[in-house]
Amino acid sequence: MFLESVCEDQKVLEQNYRLKMKYSPDYSGVKMEEALADFKDRIAKYEAVYETITDRSLHYVKLIDMVTGRGHMDVNRISGYIPGKMVFYLMQICKALGRPRRIWLTRHGESMYNVQGKIGGNSGLSTRGAAYTQLLPAVLASRVPTFGGKPIPVAVWTSTLDRTIATAANLPYPKVRWKTLDEIQSGICDGMTYAEIQEKMPEEHEMRKRDKLRYRYPSGESYMDVIQRLEPVVIEAERDRSCICIVAHQAVLRALYGYFMNQSLEKVPVIDIPLHTLMELTPKADGTMAETRFHIDVDKALQEMDWMDSSLKEREGACNPQSDSEIHADDLPEISDAGLSTSFPGRDGGFRRSVSMAELAASEMVIAQHVRRMNQNYE
Ligand code: F6P
Repeated sequence: MFLESVCEDQKVLEQNYRLKMKYSPDYSGVKMEEALADFKDRIAKYEAVYETITDRSLHYVKLIDMVTGRGHMDVNRISGYIPGKMVFYLMQICKALGRPRRIWLTRHGESMYNVQGKIGGNSGLSTRGAAYTQLLPAVLASRVPTFGGKPIPVAVWTSTLDRTIATAANLPYPKVRWKTLDEIQSGICDGMTYAEIQEKMPEEHEMRKRDKLRYRYPSGESYMDVIQRLEPVVIEAERDRSCICIVAHQAVLRALYGYFMNQSLEKVPVIDIPLHTLMELTPKADGTMAETRFHIDVDKALQEMDWMDSSLKEREGACNPQSDSEIHADDLPEISDAGLSTSFPGRDGGFRRSVSMAELAASEMVIAQHVRRMNQNYE
């Protein structure tokens, strides 16, 4: 099957040449106009020997001016499941060059099952996980690119499991829940720890160790199954022109990361996808992705919130010495339009319903400090 990409739109070509000049090592250190002249000369030489496909007895797909957004495809003698899928895929991904976009991947905040070392399930977030939900919005907001002076729209995709929905709850963007983004189904091992599986089902443990990519949990899924079921998510992510933040799970994000970062299938099940880390993928001119990871230090933030808690208590006590036992967060007025959610991780792992203005302002300071520190480190 031949694939030919034809582009005769001078504006697009010029734009492509300039990108090439900017990023190609061939022209590093060469002035733009000089590099451009050299490159055009090179293209003339390619053109002299280039043969377009005209033989209708061949199997081919021609993409004609697709990147202009007004192009078309010439599909010749293509049949069968895989070739058909390739045509469908090309239709989705060959699109007009547009505004810059980013794709962010993040696991949900630490869950109660993560704390207990159990797999699968649908548990809620731990205190650390809840802190992540508070810190994530500002970090993400600081990374949204602009185009023509305006921030590019962001869409948030979660799975249908509670821990991703809770993690995305404070993100002020439209949200979509995908069943397809649910974590790998661990079947009869769901809710067990790895040590329990090894002890109670040693053969299963062995088989998974031997071939983690193809091993399928009894009544559950393999990594290959997950990779296959993610196809609509990948197509939609390729097609969408806005920025997308995908809040999902370890195995699912390994598969998505593997696709975007062009990792081999065998590598997918062992890709490092840590908790409390925002992975930012930025498309590059050569079609690959640049990656930056932002680790969000929830422990530090919790320590700082704890410190604020105690110093606020001291100050509240100093203002109203007799009321030590009378001041409760529950007695304070609800704040609904504060920009951040009013739910805060309590020390017991639960949520406090309301917070004082001072607490809210102080927590915003902590978050802003984190974002500043992080951006200083990465940029
Ligand atoms: O432990 C968290 C988790 O998301 C489990 O629910 C899931 O089974 C596991 O990670 C997937 O990782 P691995 O394939 O390495 O077991």
